[in-house]
Amino acid sequence: MTRRLILDVDTGIDDALGIMLAVKSGFFQIEGITTVNGNVSLQQATLNTCKITEFLGASSIPVIPGADKPLIRKPVFEHRVHGNDGLGGALLDMQPSKRPEAGFGPDFIVETVLRYPGEVTLVMTGPLTNLALALHKCPDLIHHVAEVFFMGGVAGGLGNITPTAEYNAYVDPEAARTVLHAGFRKLTMVGLDVTRRALLRADDIAKLTDPRIREYVADSTSAYFDRYEERNGVRACAMHDPLAVAAAIHPELVTTKPYYVDVETRSELCDGQTVCDFQNRLGRPANVEVCMDLNEQAFIQLFVDTLNRPEAG
Ligand code: RIB
Ligand code: CA
Repeated sequence: MTRRLILDVDTGIDDALGIMLAVKSGFFQIEGITTVNGNVSLQQATLNTCKITEFLGASSIPVIPGADKPLIRKPVFEHRVHGNDGLGGALLDMQPSKRPEAGFGPDFIVETVLRYPGEVTLVMTGPLTNLALALHKCPDLIHHVAEVFFMGGVAGGLGNITPTAEYNAYVDPEAARTVLHAGFRKLTMVGLDVTRRALLRADDIAKLTDPRIREYVADSTSAYFDRYEERNGVRACAMHDPLAVAAAIHPELVTTKPYYVDVETRSELCDGQTVCDFQNRLGRPANVEVCMDLNEQAFIQLFVDTLNRPEAG
């Protein structure tokens, strides 16, 4: 069985670091990277993803644009966090020769999973719109995908865009609901509960041995560090999306527990809140493996060691 991967991204600063980790790890045959509106517009996320894959010498990986807006809501860009360009101003002048594919992300997900039944892992690091559209097109997807990891939601903590909601779930809660209710055999939620503890710091960046990569990571995260310090009192970059990638490569980095998880879609205050039924109050079967703990030191070490590997992939 070949380990195949589709990454779904709204490239953004941490999505780009997740792409780097996936490409440099060589763990998966990366069948393609689908893009979605989220941190920035679909067009910008797609351009950023082409920049990053070309920067890594991985231009052969197809980049396939997906949804340019949530299922029913308006986009909620996050330029305050990711900058106007989405990469914190890094690679700003780069004009990649790599172009996106002509297809549509959700169609690519369906076609690839059906072509390689049981072999494709999906790692979703943006709003879940593309996977929801893929499920609308092919509900049987759940029987043919190897497993799904998504960076999103928060099981037991505070939100990061509203008091109760994590950004990816908040942008498209209807899509998140479709995914949570689809019946995936293995659906792992890599939520803020663990990702806000996966912090990249300046001395970790200093350990990157390739000057090009070290300079990119420092450039793309420098303003993020400032904002993170303003909001959280520590100079760091929360590695939300890279942790979702790392969990797919080394599941032992995180500790998960099965729970029933749902998402609010009809609330004035709490839309996008993921509700984890820790006490089984609802009596419904668990639908998600919820990440409850992580080995932060091992994760950061994996990130640095992987980016220090000489070859791409
Ligand atoms: O809440 C963090 C998530 O929202 C990350 O995926 C980040 O890139 C943004 O999309
Ligand atoms: Ca993201």
